[in-house]
This record gives sequence, C-alpha cells and structure tokens, in this order.
Amino acid sequence: MKSIRKEQKPGSGNGSVKGQGKSKGVVPEMVRSAGETQRFGSVARLPNSLPDSVARKSAEKLNQLLADTMTLRDLYKKHHWQVTGPSFYQFHLLFDKHYEEQSELVDQIAERIQLLGGVSIAMAAHVAKLTRIETPPIGREDVGVQVTRLLSAHKLIVSDARKQARSVADDDPGTNDLLVSNVLRTNELQTWFLAEHLVHVNQ
Ligand SMILES: [Fe+2]
Repeated sequence: MKSIRKEQKPGSGNGSVKGQGKSKGVVPEMVRSAGETQRFGSVARLPNSLPDSVARKSAEKLNQLLADTMTLRDLYKKHHWQVTGPSFYQFHLLFDKHYEEQSELVDQIAERIQLLGGVSIAMAAHVAKLTRIETPPIGREDVGVQVTRLLSAHKLIVSDARKQARSVADDDPGTNDLLVSNVLRTNELQTWFLAEHLVHVNQ
C-alpha cells in the first residue's frame, strides 16, 4: 500500500527535486460528498438475465428480510451480553453461536441484493426504521423473556422467508435457494434450539 506522507511546506527540503520545481508532497485526496451514485430502492441493470421487474421485486423483499435479520442478529448479541441466571454459561454460548450464524445470513442476503442490482440497507438508523421486530428495552430482561423475544423474531422471519420463497420460485430461483437453503433452514434450526428450553415435558 502507498504510504501517505505529511504535507510539506513548498521548498522545505525533501519534497523538492532539483530542476523540477517545488513539490507539495503527497497528501490524501479527500473525496467530498457528491450525492448518491444509486438511490435506495432502485435497481441497476446487470447482465444477470433477470427482467428488471423481477430483480426489483426480489431486492425490495430481501431488504425487508435483511432489516429484520440484522435486528435479530443484534438481539442475539444483546442477550449474549445481558443474560443472567443459573444457565448463564449455556445461554451465553448459545446466543453467541446463533449471533454468528445470523451474521452469515446478513452478509448473504445483502450480497444477493447487490448482485440483483439493488442497494442493501446497511446502517443501524435505517434498519431501525424498516424492521418489523419490536425494539426491546435498553435494560436487562429475564432469560425467559429473552428467549420468547427471539422466538417471536424467528417466527416473523420464517414465515416471511417461506412466503417469499414461494413467490420467487419460478422467476428467481437463485433467491429462492438462498431463502430456503440458508435463511429458512438456519432460522428453523435456531427456533428448535430455543423452543426446547420452554417445553415442559409431562412425566
Ligand atoms: Fe462475547
């Protein structure tokens, strides 16, 4: 990588080369804001053989799913940090494992949106406006409440992924595969791992 030297005063020594005048030295060229290069919600034409209308619809639906998945991911990290009780260690580890898996999904969904020609939602402030998952309180909650919150978020995402998968099955099989093989299967498995903690077995 090119090193960036401190700006030198003209003629201060090292920056000037004999016979070539005075150099200003190497300085980073800060690019000022020139507006957006692609508007959120629009779809760029890419050689992916998908009609614009199909790519646009898939990108829009995936952005909703992305906002919800980012919120669920962050809910897992909050609970990983704040969990209490006799099963602290077990939940601390489980919540972090699920957090990592949700992080993988976030990247896969976001990059699917980009390869469709869309613009992925990215920043927390924007995600907060779009997500349908209820914001938890800023403080700590009981582990039973934490698990219930997570299960509710999974339920929303699972039903959305199933619905979306059906709607794009014919026109956009790549998105269908992501929704079924990754989003749906991961969320179903995590739902099982959580839900078993709340099941009371009759002896
Ligand atoms: Fe940690």
